[in-house]
Amino acid sequence: MSAGRTRFVGMGVRIEVDHLTMRYGAVTAVEDISFTVEPGEFFGLLGPNGAGKTTTLETIEGLREPTEGRVAIDGRDPARREPDLQRRIGVQLQSSAFFERLTAVEQLQTFGSIYGVPTSRLDELLEQVGLTEKATAQVEDLSGGQKQRLSIACALVHDPEVVFLDEPTAALDPQARRNLWDVLRGINESGRTVVLTTHYMEEAEELCDRVAIVDHGQLLQLDTPATLIRRLDAATRIGLAVEAISIDEARALPGVQTVAVGSAGLVIETRDAATVLGELGRREALEGLSVSKGTLEDVFLDLTGREYRA
Ligand SMILES: Nc1ncnc2c1ncn2[C@@H]1O[C@H](COP(=O)(O)OP(=O)(O)OP(=O)(O)O)[C@@H](O)[C@H]1O
Ligand SMILES: [Mg+2]
Repeated sequence: MSAGRTRFVGMGVRIEVDHLTMRYGAVTAVEDISFTVEPGEFFGLLGPNGAGKTTTLETIEGLREPTEGRVAIDGRDPARREPDLQRRIGVQLQSSAFFERLTAVEQLQTFGSIYGVPTSRLDELLEQVGLTEKATAQVEDLSGGQKQRLSIACALVHDPEVVFLDEPTAALDPQARRNLWDVLRGINESGRTVVLTTHYMEEAEELCDRVAIVDHGQLLQLDTPATLIRRLDAATRIGLAVEAISIDEARALPGVQTVAVGSAGLVIETRDAATVLGELGRREALEGLSVSKGTLEDVFLDLTGREYRA
């Protein structure tokens, strides 16, 4: 958990994943993964397509039984699907299924009625996910992103203590994505545990207290985004307008590792940013300057490789 955030004590569940292995016939989707998620933590599962994120998440949610190992939510087995534990869990699946021919608000109402949720809560939720104007639209008539937002509202309808979200922002436009970040941050700041998967490293860096990076069913790294980035010890990237300095002159500067030209201008990589920036300043070659250090995306690519895979 990041320091300085206000947390409500006594809410949010503890999740234990202990030597979890999941096989689908000959395919080992998850292999001997162990980690814990603390109460009130915002936890991210990251990994390329097919890494085993959904399988891990669905096992924690109690939708799949482990082939080997165990998972527990507050010490209890989620696969037993005991109603009082279910009540505390909110789930948004990667591929959402809705009841046919219901409107958005009826859809929410159907989920909410299982838990005796008051109608006032439905309006509040639709507002939170930006669907107020679509309350009476049929689910079939919603856009991809709107459906996704409705499925998130359904996961939150009974005010659960832990929310599992599988790529919640995958189909959202940038504005809706940031609005959802605020919603999720708000839920987490009220003490609830949030576990999400995402392919957006910026999102994980922004939201998550800790992230687990998985690939080929294995846990590669687990730590705070800041620690992972620091450990990578990535080069600093200095961006400049192409007019700022010639490529040859940039390459000849002390401390410069590489120089590349892209559509946005020149990019200099260095592990001695102070020297390079000093030299550029002396030459008055700072037009279009931008400076960036490693990001979680660099960590992800370093661990999982850059190439697309089947
Ligand atoms: N029901 C299934 N039957 C057989 N194999 C499966 C099944 N579900 C998943 N797999 C396989 O298990 C592996 C992990 O899949 P999983 O859906 O957990 O990955 P993921 O990390 O969620 O990927 P994505 O980012 O694409 O959602 C993949 O190789 C996938 O093909
Ligand atoms: Mg998945």
